[in-house]
Amino acid sequence: MELKTIHKKKLKEADEFQQKILNPENKKRYRTFGYVKKNYLTKPELFVGAYDNNKLIGIIFGYIKRDNVLLGEMAIDENYRGIGLGSKLLDFFEKQAIRTGKNKITLGALDNAEKFYMKRGYKPILFLQIRNSDVPLNYKSLSKYKIIKETNYSDAKRLFFKAKYPSNTLKNKLAKLFHAYNAIYLFKKSLK
Ligand SMILES: CC(C)(COP(=O)(O)OP(=O)(O)OC[C@H]1O[C@@H](n2cnc3c(N)ncnc32)[C@H](O)[C@@H]1OP(=O)(O)O)[C@@H](O)C(=O)NCCC(=O)NCCS
Repeated sequence: MELKTIHKKKLKEADEFQQKILNPENKKRYRTFGYVKKNYLTKPELFVGAYDNNKLIGIIFGYIKRDNVLLGEMAIDENYRGIGLGSKLLDFFEKQAIRTGKNKITLGALDNAEKFYMKRGYKPILFLQIRNSDVPLNYKSLSKYKIIKETNYSDAKRLFFKAKYPSNTLKNKLAKLFHAYNAIYLFKKSLK
């Protein structure tokens, strides 16, 4: 097993690998291959792979976002899950991320990976996106959960709530209460 930065010539293959796992229905992509490639060319060390005799068996793609390193994609080949490979690849990625001089790693987790990130020392934050026209007037006093950050975009408001651990019940409850069109747990880990 070998962990290393993905070679430029192997980036397309790595991208197809992660899409097969993370986007099996081939839906419209949030980060296109063009975007992946552009970021790779500025920070190739944040695009890491795990190899078994030169066969690609896992990837992590990372992007610089202000003072964060965003972990955008992580995928391990089905046949190699549950044997600690994801943890090893994440350790390797974190070392590469430290070298960028940024303060923290952030990511938005898929439901089935939340426990994995908790075990790796990542802290959850509940993130809601609400269309401006749907924001309840009294949103600041709607729930006892603390809003730790709020950002406003032309189309939507984004609220960040403090969370101890990821709970689907709480996520669905707050999404409904705040009329959110999207609710997800973000995770962050300090690099210092
Ligand atoms: C999530 C994923 C990257 C984990 O990789 P992995 O190589 O299987 O993880 P590891 O073997 O290193 O597991 C590390 C720990 O997390 C736990 N874990 C891993 N996946 C888990 C899951 N789905 N649910 C609960 N615990 C999980 C393991 O039990 C292990 O615990 P331990 O250290 O106490 O033994 C991998 O399952 C995967 O590629 N899943 C599909 C794509 C995906 O969800 N990607 C993440 C996008 S945010």
